[in-house]
Amino acid sequence: MVIIVGVTGGIAAYKAVHLVRLFIADGHEVHVIPTEEALRFVGRPTWEAISRNPVTTSVHDDVPRVRHVALGQRADLVVVAPATANTMAAMAAGLADDLLGTTLLATTAPVLVAPAMHTEMWNHPATRANVETLRSRGVRLVGPDSGPLTGGDSGPGRMSEPEEIHRAALELLRSAQDLAGLTVAVSAGGTREPIDPVRYLGNRSSGRQGVALAAAAADRGARVLLAAANIEADVLRAAQRPGVEVSTAGSAAELATLMRGAAEEADIVIMAAAVADYRVAELSQEKMTKESGPAPVLTLVENEDILAGLAADRRPGQTIVGFAAETATGEELLARGRRKRKRKGADLLAINEVGWTKGFETADNRLVVIGADGQVVAEASGSKREVAEVLLGAIAELHHGAGAGDAG
Ligand code: CTP
Repeated sequence: MVIIVGVTGGIAAYKAVHLVRLFIADGHEVHVIPTEEALRFVGRPTWEAISRNPVTTSVHDDVPRVRHVALGQRADLVVVAPATANTMAAMAAGLADDLLGTTLLATTAPVLVAPAMHTEMWNHPATRANVETLRSRGVRLVGPDSGPLTGGDSGPGRMSEPEEIHRAALELLRSAQDLAGLTVAVSAGGTREPIDPVRYLGNRSSGRQGVALAAAAADRGARVLLAAANIEADVLRAAQRPGVEVSTAGSAAELATLMRGAAEEADIVIMAAAVADYRVAELSQEKMTKESGPAPVLTLVENEDILAGLAADRRPGQTIVGFAAETATGEELLARGRRKRKRKGADLLAINEVGWTKGFETADNRLVVIGADGQVVAEASGSKREVAEVLLGAIAELHHGAGAGDAG
């Protein structure tokens, strides 16, 4: 594998020397890209000697080989260790004023960042916001650890030990393409059931979790068919990348049609959309007005259960994943999730605790994933992208194992 190690200007740069050695010992091709600041801590000859490759910081070196993008394009993994507060701000802003910056913009490989800075800098709202931005784009963080810092102070900010970064990097490489060659159908958003030409019954789902799943699945190598039910354009934009095909649905019936079509091609189906259980029995073709009479009574009829239908019709080897939005907590939350998984026949069910202030329209989420015999196979909390990665890890494991397609 081709691993790029970006080194930025912190005292922990000396520890990155050992990290490079660990990658070399594994047999990887390693290219070190230090920033100018990093070279004040550890010099170029050291990096060249241990990586066995030429080292440059500037986009103006080796121009004929277009090195400023070539390295990023060839990389299987980019690790930035140590990552200073300044570098993380530059990454969040997409700055490209040196070779590391251009490489990070040019790469589609997974990126692992090992922050190192003083506790105050780590806790600063600017750094918190940058970390949030990077995480939501799929950048992984390892550390920082808590402990003594260079100034004699102590707290979170120490770069993780090289062995820990090495372990996280190998894990990321392993999961990086675990959906390669597979087609994943994802529904996201919330359906709207029309009442009349201007009104509908809807729900609070923003589609963020489903969009994060689609983006993460594509980044793990899958072709993704994303059925988007009423998702704002700026939310949907997060899934824009090669490998994601978006189609849009309004009502549950439209979503059902899209998902049935997608499921014919899909190896994995994830129903993350919030689907209305009921629709209005009789649509009013005219806008209802107060002149139409007294307060109307809406008669509702049940919508088809898309997930249950897809699970019942699944092809051998196809993996079907559902979500459950529940307002219960603790054991009752799990019990409801277990009953729902069984009732719908999904292989995995991701249970999501929701409420007036939980689950919707927020950046973060918490999921518990239930498997075929009701056991908890994964738990995740964090940004919707981080949660998506954990769920996809569980899905990939099940799909590649023997368990797919035989949920009871
Ligand atoms: N779902 C579906 N079709 C429906 C309703 C739900 O495919 N008509 C799917 C959702 O996409 C989700 C799962 O079923 O993956 C559970 O959705 P949820 O709203 O939690 O469950 P309901 O079936 O609506 O059950 P209840 O309202 O009783 O909790």
